[in-house]
Amino acid sequence: MAEGRKENENVVMLPFMGQGHLIPFLALAFQIQQTRGYTVTIVNTPLNIKKLRSSLPTNTTNTTTIRFIELPFCSADHGLPPDSENTDVLPYHLIIRLMEATLSLKPSFKRLISDITHQQHGYPPLCIIADMFFGWTIDIANEFGVFHAVFNTGSAYGMAIFNSLWLHLPHSKTNSDEFSLLDFPQVSRIHRSQLSNYLKIADGNDSWSIFLHRVLPQWLNSDGVLVNTVEDLDRTGLHYFRSKSGRPVWPIGPIVSSMTRARPSKEACLEWLDVHPPASVIYISFGSQNTVSASQIMELAMALEGSNKNFIWVVRPPLGFDVNSEFRAVEWLPEGFEDRLSKCKRGLLVRKWAPQLEILSHKSTGAFLSHCGWNSVLESLSHGVPIIAWPIAGEQFYNAKLLEEEMGVCVEVARGSGCEVRHVEIASVIDMVMDENGKGRDIRRKACEVKEMIKDAIRDDDEGYKGSSVKAMDEFFNAALSMRKTKEETK
Ligand code: UDX
Repeated sequence: MAEGRKENENVVMLPFMGQGHLIPFLALAFQIQQTRGYTVTIVNTPLNIKKLRSSLPTNTTNTTTIRFIELPFCSADHGLPPDSENTDVLPYHLIIRLMEATLSLKPSFKRLISDITHQQHGYPPLCIIADMFFGWTIDIANEFGVFHAVFNTGSAYGMAIFNSLWLHLPHSKTNSDEFSLLDFPQVSRIHRSQLSNYLKIADGNDSWSIFLHRVLPQWLNSDGVLVNTVEDLDRTGLHYFRSKSGRPVWPIGPIVSSMTRARPSKEACLEWLDVHPPASVIYISFGSQNTVSASQIMELAMALEGSNKNFIWVVRPPLGFDVNSEFRAVEWLPEGFEDRLSKCKRGLLVRKWAPQLEILSHKSTGAFLSHCGWNSVLESLSHGVPIIAWPIAGEQFYNAKLLEEEMGVCVEVARGSGCEVRHVEIASVIDMVMDENGKGRDIRRKACEVKEMIKDAIRDDDEGYKGSSVKAMDEFFNAALSMRKTKEETK
């Protein structure tokens, strides 16, 4: 194999079953396949494999050498509704059950690695790249002598705080609203309002604590950690993981999907953006699985109308309703809102799913009101678009903290889906961020600087310059190849 063809080297990837994980894993798979020439095998449950296949742009389906392999999974066996294999079809309280159910994939994943090894005449895959929630794959990698890396699809800063909070539960040891992180003193204090609903009530014996106490420490045993981030933007978080694990931590981002599949809303959105002045439109989206409450939707609508700014808003039913059901504008928005604002081309409502990357890369987009899922953040900053943060769950609160306190590219407007928001206050933040002067100008300038830093990190030019993320990816593959070589020499 050492002298064999590159495509005979197999990189096996196992993402967690949420869009925020599948999308960057698929983008990373493409990047590896295109820049390294290795065969990439993405492994997942049947419905997610179907989803991944169908998200490939039609012109690449026949040419890509990415292989997709299904692991058997029956959601009903785990107390989940039938055909529930992705967080995007589950209400929030069932997500932990899906996470717990993933532990059942271990035997079939092991069989798969064994099969690949047999097919390749005793040579195992070059490496396994697994999601942060799948540390159990390390045992299998060790058994077959395969290099193992965790791919953290979040920011290092956000995941470091998430890790620290869940493993130490500092808020359960104080009555104070603000508290410090025991093993991460480099960050300022955390406020109780920055805890997700499950973390707020966690006491170590709840199902989230039990699951996360089991899986989070497993990272430390991986051969290294890949992070979808940029060294210069995320030093504090990277330092946390480097000092904890003593293993290499490679910031290889941004791994942003460049795949664009035709969607019915795409042309409509782009045509709509084309008729607006540069940087005049606010794009609003709460990501792939989050939504806000009915009263928050109403206040946000009133703020958008009151602020007199142009906007594209990806609307979803409010909390408490099936997130995939029809959006009832008559019920959840001010009377006549959609008609009024679409007639004068002030606002465009997109149901369920928008072509986000195309919107963020359009010159008319001037700000992104976002839940701060990390993919959204990277997509926005790669295009120099400043952020109005409304974090809702998970590590989104800490991504917002990183953006506001450390990078200066964002203003936080609200926290969570339970807080009271007032349209006048939302409108005033929108005005501030869209303002050509003052704070608006400052954060736009910072966002442009960050865009340039990102460009530099992924630069790989003919003169031999390699940006930090390109170098990190080289180092990762060098480490995997060197382990392969050592194993072969000792055979
Ligand atoms: C989840 C977690 O909740 C979050 O904490 C973590 O940081 C990432 O995964 P998610 O809602 O999936 O969040 O957010 P995000 O990371 O922003 O990923 C969403 C992806 O879906 C982005 O690539 C975005 O471009 C895409 N998307 C989302 C669309 O293309 N259209 C949409 O309408 C919504």
